[in-house]
Amino acid sequence: MCRAVFLLALTVLVCPAAEALDNGLALKPTMGWLHWERFMCNTDCYKDPNNCISERLYMQMADVMVKEGWKEAGYEYVCIDDCWPSHQRDAKGRLQADPKRFPGGIKKLADYVHSKGLKLGIYADVGKNTCAGYPGSLGYYEADAQTFADWDVDLLKFDGCYMDWKLLGEGYMNMSRALNKTGRSILYSCEWPLYEWPHKQPDYKAIRETCNHWRNFDDVYDSWSSIKSILDWTASHQDIIAPSAGPGGWNDPDMLVIGNFGLSHDQQESQMALWAIMAAPLLMSNDPRDICPRSKKLLQNTDIIAISQDPLGKQGQCTIKVDNFEVWERPLSKKRLAIAVLNTQEIGGPRGFFIRAAPGWKICDPQCNVTQILPQYKELGVQTPHTKLVVSVNPSGTTLLTVTPTSDYAGLIL
Ligand code: GLA
Repeated sequence: MCRAVFLLALTVLVCPAAEALDNGLALKPTMGWLHWERFMCNTDCYKDPNNCISERLYMQMADVMVKEGWKEAGYEYVCIDDCWPSHQRDAKGRLQADPKRFPGGIKKLADYVHSKGLKLGIYADVGKNTCAGYPGSLGYYEADAQTFADWDVDLLKFDGCYMDWKLLGEGYMNMSRALNKTGRSILYSCEWPLYEWPHKQPDYKAIRETCNHWRNFDDVYDSWSSIKSILDWTASHQDIIAPSAGPGGWNDPDMLVIGNFGLSHDQQESQMALWAIMAAPLLMSNDPRDICPRSKKLLQNTDIIAISQDPLGKQGQCTIKVDNFEVWERPLSKKRLAIAVLNTQEIGGPRGFFIRAAPGWKICDPQCNVTQILPQYKELGVQTPHTKLVVSVNPSGTTLLTVTPTSDYAGLIL
C-alpha cells in the first residue's frame, strides 16, 4: 500500500500535468510579430498603403525583421491576423486572399518570408465567420487546413467567434487533427479557453493536447489598464492555468504592445519582464519599421529573452502581493530563478523592496549570486538569506532579477 502511494506520488511528481500536442513545435514560447493590435482591420490601401493589411505590409515586416536584428534576437514568425481573405471562397470552396491587397497570393508571400529565413502565420476562425466578419472555417476544417499547408504556412491562429460555445472543443480538436493530417508542421494557436470561460471552466488537459498555445483572456489594448487586467486575471487563475504550460504548449496572454503609444517606458519594461516570467509567446504587435530605439532595445534584450526561452519551460507565478508590490517568480533551469518585482503604486517615486521577502529567496541559503536585468543591468553580487539588499522599483515599473544558487562548498566536496 505504502509503495503504491509512493509510486503514485512519484508519477505525479515526474509527469507534467498533461501531454502536449505532439507536433514537435513550440518547445519554447513562440516569438514573432502579429499584425492585430497595431494594424487591426485596416483594409484601405488607397488611403493608407503603408499600413493596410496587404502583402506589402508582411514583406516589409520580413525585411525589417532581418535587417534590424529581430530575427537574430529570436523573433521568427511573421503573422497575418484577421481581414486578409476575400469575402467569398473560390469556386472550389477554398479560402482565397483578397486579390487587390494580396495580388501575389499567400503562397508567394510564404515563399518570400521563407527566403528571409522566417516563418509565416495566418488566421482563421473555428466558427461561421471570423471576428471581423470574413468567412469562417466551420464546415471546412480539412479543406482549410489543406489550403494552408498547400500555401506552406507555418502557424495558424484559430479564433473562436460566431461559434456555439458547446461545439468549441470539438471544432478546435477537429482542426488540430486536420492540420496534423496535412503532414506539414503548422503551429496551432487557439482561443478556445477564452470563448469557453464565460460558460464553464475549460479543460486544460484537452487544450494542451490540442493546441500549441491558447488565449485565456481579453484582447490586449495599447494601455497600462489592459496590461494590468491581463496580469490580474492571470494571477487570480494561475492555479488552474499555470500547470498546463510547458514545452509544446503555453498560456497566451496576448501580444506585446511595446513600441506603440500607450505605455510609458517603465510599463513597457513591466510587460516585457512579466511576459518572460509567464512563459508567454512573445508576439509583438507594433511597427518595427518605425520604433523608438529604447523600445527596440528592450524587445531585443537577450537576458530577458533567455528567461522567456528557458529550457525548463515552467510558467512563473505571482507569489506575493504586499504593500502595492507584486512579486512574480519563474523557476529556471540549473536551479536558477527569475524574480520580477512590480510596483503597482501609481503615485510617488521609486520605492524600495526588501528582496529577501520574495518567497523564492530561500534558494539563497546558504548563498546566491544575483543579477539585475531591469531597469538596468547590474551585478548585485553574492547574497545570503539575511541580506539587506533593497531593490528600487519605479511606479508601474518592474525590477527583474536572476538568482543563481552558489554551491560554495563544492571545492571541499571534491
Ligand atoms: C479577436 C481576437 C483578436 C483578433 C481579432 C480579429 O478579437 O481575440 O486577437 O484576432 O479577433 O478580428
